[in-house]
Amino acid sequence: MDIVLLGAPGAGKGTQAELLAEWLSLPTVSSGVLFREAMDAGTPLGRRAKEFIDRGELVPDEVTVDMIAERLSRPDCANGVILDGFPRTVAQARALEDLLGRMGRQVDVVAYIEVPTEVLLQRLSGRWTCSQCGAVYHETFNPEAVEGVCDSCGGKLVQREDDTPEVQRRRIEVYNERTAPLIAYYREQGILSEVDGDQGVEAVQHDLRAVIHAARS
Ligand code: AP5
Ligand code: MG
Ligand code: ZN
Repeated sequence: MDIVLLGAPGAGKGTQAELLAEWLSLPTVSSGVLFREAMDAGTPLGRRAKEFIDRGELVPDEVTVDMIAERLSRPDCANGVILDGFPRTVAQARALEDLLGRMGRQVDVVAYIEVPTEVLLQRLSGRWTCSQCGAVYHETFNPEAVEGVCDSCGGKLVQREDDTPEVQRRRIEVYNERTAPLIAYYREQGILSEVDGDQGVEAVQHDLRAVIHAARS
């Protein structure tokens, strides 16, 4: 199964993707995580992406699509993937259709995680991310057991560089301008399912599983 998680910055895409991955035994492919790995490693891709990410702008489509194409070509993606943060433009959505089409696959379900803007900002401002494995925590809504330490791998928790108030607001604006049109795009294709993201992590996961279950049968 190939699943796309669509939603604004802070909607919970990363959080939910990890839980779905465990449930479905599928890998998550997160464009944001891949870019941050490239930035940490200081590769040419990472340096290019950083110019955009630091400002809350989208990385150009061709750079992003090439990165995702490479990731999807690896053996662990053969049975399907959970996409988090990709596609983010209509051009990327078309590119994804091509990439999956060449493997005889298609997007099976697009789960749109809907969260009001004021809640997005609360979530982003208290977020901590594991520097080792990328797991996501929130100081109030989803705290780690031992302060500053990742529950799953023991790594150090850090705040993302693009989580300043100014860049958070810009990311939400960019989402509304460039990514929100995908809601209508996928609705027209009949594969969009809406999930109320303004609930606790477990409740959102429950609803996502119901939507995926329905799409499978
Ligand atoms: P990316 O890393 O994808 O960031 P984003 O879209 O801004 O989304 P976030 O990761 O901020 O939010 P999320 O939905 O994953 O929420 P999370 O689970 O962390 O992209 C970063 C940048 O990379 C972009 O700005 C762009 O520059 C570039 N980029 C990436 N993809 C690209 C693409 N395809 N094309 C071009 N450029 C691209 O949750 C947020 C917080 O809320 C956490 O603290 C979490 O613990 C908490 N939380 C989660 N769920 C709940 C809940 N139900 N209740 C309470 N708290 C919750
Ligand atoms: Mg994320
Ligand atoms: Zn970790």
